[in-house]
Amino acid sequence: MGKRSIEERVEAEAQHLAEEIGKAEDQHSYQPGSPFSPTLIHTHAVSNVICSIVFRNRFYYKGQKFPNLTSAINNFFLDISSIWSLDFIMERVRMDPSCPQAFVDSFLMSTFQEMQNPQSVFKTKNLVETAIQLFFAGTETTSSTLRYGFLLLVKCLEIQDKVREKINRVIGRTHSPAMSDRGRVPYTNAEIHEIQRFANITPVGVLHKVTCDTHFRRYLPPQGADTDVWTALGMVLQDPKHFKDPGNFHPERFLDEEGRFKKNDAFLPFSTGKRECLGKSLALMELFLMLTTILQRFTLKWLKLQQQTDLTPRETEIGIGIVPPSYELCTLPREEGWQDTA
Ligand code: HEM
Repeated sequence: MGKRSIEERVEAEAQHLAEEIGKAEDQHSYQPGSPFSPTLIHTHAVSNVICSIVFRNRFYYKGQKFPNLTSAINNFFLDISSIWSLDFIMERVRMDPSCPQAFVDSFLMSTFQEMQNPQSVFKTKNLVETAIQLFFAGTETTSSTLRYGFLLLVKCLEIQDKVREKINRVIGRTHSPAMSDRGRVPYTNAEIHEIQRFANITPVGVLHKVTCDTHFRRYLPPQGADTDVWTALGMVLQDPKHFKDPGNFHPERFLDEEGRFKKNDAFLPFSTGKRECLGKSLALMELFLMLTTILQRFTLKWLKLQQQTDLTPRETEIGIGIVPPSYELCTLPREEGWQDTA
């Protein structure tokens, strides 16, 4: 997930996202400087990254089929075997496996190689289900984090200014941000960690079972189907023993006295161990490249009327995820916004 070839796709998508935000043409539903909800546009951007990994190509933001998929994901359309999503994936499964560039191509090659093996897992059904899982696991999580990040940056303008000032000084205004820049902008890295800690979007991870005797404190959870095991990741991210004053958004907690990035072992938004999030490196790439690209080009603000929007999260309908409250924001092209905030 963290490969250079994937980084190139994320970098390209970050540029498309910035262009989309900046477009002024009438056919778009918003004009620069006028307020818009970032929900759908973020979902499009991160779904496009998954599309390019799974199918090799991305889709136009205003294309017909793509918005259907992204709004389904966005509405927590949790029936993952929905006929509509299956159609979308099936239409793209018939690709030429002679030039493997994406997940679908590699999977089809293995299907071909294992054709004679009745036990093979490389079956079309598994291909479709895995692709759907990648969309569902990788879209709402990353786009909610981005959306929370934008909200926090709009609310805490001085932090936004500070991040932008570092990007401006270290990465510059013309060079497109790359992952190799991350080590040179520790404040931005700290801010992204703090967004993830504060947003706490997967507070109980995903459902687990114990498969062997496992002592946890004074408990011995029974093995098998009867006992659901949830990891209280959110409690760790909010634990005052590890994060002083956890209710405050404070990127500096991830920096040492010299301003260098400081790790914290309790930072576990992706869980830990063998089954930690498969998309961790990809998600970290998306958060860094999309946030820096947008802040390099825009100032994020909101209308005076909305200044009271609080940061209290909403629970998702199924109750195991967290999403930010709804809000609208304005983006001002950098030149304008820069004088404003410098
Ligand atoms: C900010 C973004 C993300 C967060 C906070 C997040 C968080 C998590 C968490 C907490 C788990 C459960 C780990 C466990 O079993 O204990 C998980 C699993 C998973 N995530 Fe993510 N995730 C994110 C992005 C992604 C992306 C971009 C992808 C894929 C492209 C992805 C794919 C998966 C998959 C496939 C699993 C199941 C792994 C397994 O069962 O072995 N996630 N994620």
